[in-house]
Amino acid sequence: MSDPRPTPIPDSIERSKVPRHVGVVMDGNGRWAERRGLDRTEGHGAGEVSLVDTIYGALSLGMKALTVYAFSTENWVRPVDEVRYLMNFNQGLLQRRQHELHADGVRIVFSGRQDWRVPRRVLKNMDEAVELTKKNKKMTLNIAFNYGGRAEIVDAVRRLVSDKVSAARVDEKAIRSRLYHPELADPELIVRTSGEYRISNFLLWEMAYAELVFTDVLWPDFRREDLFRAVEEFQRRQRRFGGITP
Ligand code: IPE
Ligand code: IPE
Ligand code: MG
Repeated sequence: MSDPRPTPIPDSIERSKVPRHVGVVMDGNGRWAERRGLDRTEGHGAGEVSLVDTIYGALSLGMKALTVYAFSTENWVRPVDEVRYLMNFNQGLLQRRQHELHADGVRIVFSGRQDWRVPRRVLKNMDEAVELTKKNKKMTLNIAFNYGGRAEIVDAVRRLVSDKVSAARVDEKAIRSRLYHPELADPELIVRTSGEYRISNFLLWEMAYAELVFTDVLWPDFRREDLFRAVEEFQRRQRRFGGITP
């Protein structure tokens, strides 16, 4: 295992009740950098350690899927230099990390639009990482890249139409099966960093019954201990799914 920082799991976490799928909105990179008098992009760069640590934390908990929000369909409005940096950074991160993740049994997939705005070389790297890791079974790392929850639903509806599904046959299952990764169970827990209490178009369909945990920690400071704390918080929640507590 290439875990850079093997860390024991706290006894307070009940191993049989670890959420199978967790989503993370990795926010606060710009503020982290600005507080240090650095360029915003340095904050994105510093987030790489957080991501790797979080992935290994998730693996050590036995999670089956981790979806991370890396770039939203709305993030294109940022200054061109920042967008360019983010494209290069995400491509570099994949190149740097895919082999160790592969060795540790992680399947890499992407959610989002692979449209003309994403540079072709980045798309090529994404395909390579998917191909390299496609048989891995331990955990799926789903990278939400050029992702929007509304765009995902729009894309599913487009597929319903092109599949000529009649109105009477449109139901939740028909929509769900046309989302980007219907094979993944819905996330049970969504964590957002940086003290913002919003969803920002992340996993809108899939999060219907997710538990939400917000933390003030800025993404570049986030480590697996913060993930463990979020899981503890999750385990204290009472999930009812519209029913009543027995
Ligand atoms: C999250 O950090 C990374 C992306 C959205 C790509 P931000 O860049 O949004 O950082 P803040 O929110 O401005 O601090
Ligand atoms: C959400 O963060 C998107 C990602 C983390 C990739 P933003 O920083 O873009 O969200 P808003 O603009 O604060 O809602
Ligand atoms: Mg932000």
